[in-house]
Amino acid sequence: MTLSNALADCAIKINRTMEDLLPGALGAEAILLDAMKYSSLGEGKKIRPFMVLQSSKLFGVKEECARRVGSAVEFLHSYSLIHDDLPAMDDSDFRRGKKSCHKRFNEATAILAGDALLTLAFEILSDPLTAEDSFVRCQLVNFLAKSAGHQGMVAGQMIDLLAEGKTLCLDEIVQMQSLKTGEIFAFCMISGGILGGASKLQLDALKKYAYGFGIAFQIVDDLLDVEGNIDTIGKPGGQDAKVEKATLVAKLGVEEARHKAVLLVNESIEALKLWGREADYLRALAQFVLERQR
Ligand code: IPE
Ligand code: IPE
Ligand code: MG
Ligand code: MG
Ligand code: MG
Repeated sequence: MTLSNALADCAIKINRTMEDLLPGALGAEAILLDAMKYSSLGEGKKIRPFMVLQSSKLFGVKEECARRVGSAVEFLHSYSLIHDDLPAMDDSDFRRGKKSCHKRFNEATAILAGDALLTLAFEILSDPLTAEDSFVRCQLVNFLAKSAGHQGMVAGQMIDLLAEGKTLCLDEIVQMQSLKTGEIFAFCMISGGILGGASKLQLDALKKYAYGFGIAFQIVDDLLDVEGNIDTIGKPGGQDAKVEKATLVAKLGVEEARHKAVLLVNESIEALKLWGREADYLRALAQFVLERQR
């Protein structure tokens, strides 16, 4: 199967699992569930769950468990996008080709839907259906909390906002991208290893792949912000320049930023040398980051 077919197949399966994990809307709070579904099911590329499924495959993890972990990460990722789009943050009115959550509903509902998606991720990871062994569940919860919180993605988001209109050096921008984008990809890679009992050497290789991948992914996101528009990328273009975001594209220019992404992707692929053909989809996924148009 080609990578694009495998990604499409994964998106269908993950959407199904996510739907099963989101309860039917009842009672006065039904609108909250509507907002959670609106912003997590459907249009996203589902690259993070794909990564969880692929890293899990390297260690012979049951697909049912990997799908639950992949869904947990996708719920958390959806929360991060809902909050990222709020007026107090990037103030973006469109996401995935439709109105962003606070525009479709309202700000309070968007904040609460984000909160509920974040906590749902941990509810899923701590459920025995995700992993029989309670120590494995604890490790998943611990690693996702660290990756998403004040030492991880949220720290990166804070730096991103503080850096608007400021001049950061190259290393500072890379560090910010590693936090805001790389950390969650690191969880995706490591989770397969945690579920499947990987060695320290293997976990280190998975992390190395993820951080290179994550920084390259964010560089390309920043390039698409320059080159794309609502019809091509599903979110408005030119947002970063408008508020003078500290990006590698602004720092280095389009050509050099793209070159940096190529180098990072090569390093990422190199980190998979412990594995043979079974890691080919992960190699192709890293390459896909450079070619993606949305
Ligand atoms: C967007 O992530 C946010 C970044 C980390 C750059 P994706 O490009 O994976 O967004 P979706 O989930 O496919 O919409
Ligand atoms: C967001 O980065 C990364 C997150 C952790 C949510 P961006 O702000 O560049 O993502 P987009 O362009 O809005 O998707
Ligand atoms: Mg942002
Ligand atoms: Mg944004
Ligand atoms: Mg962006």
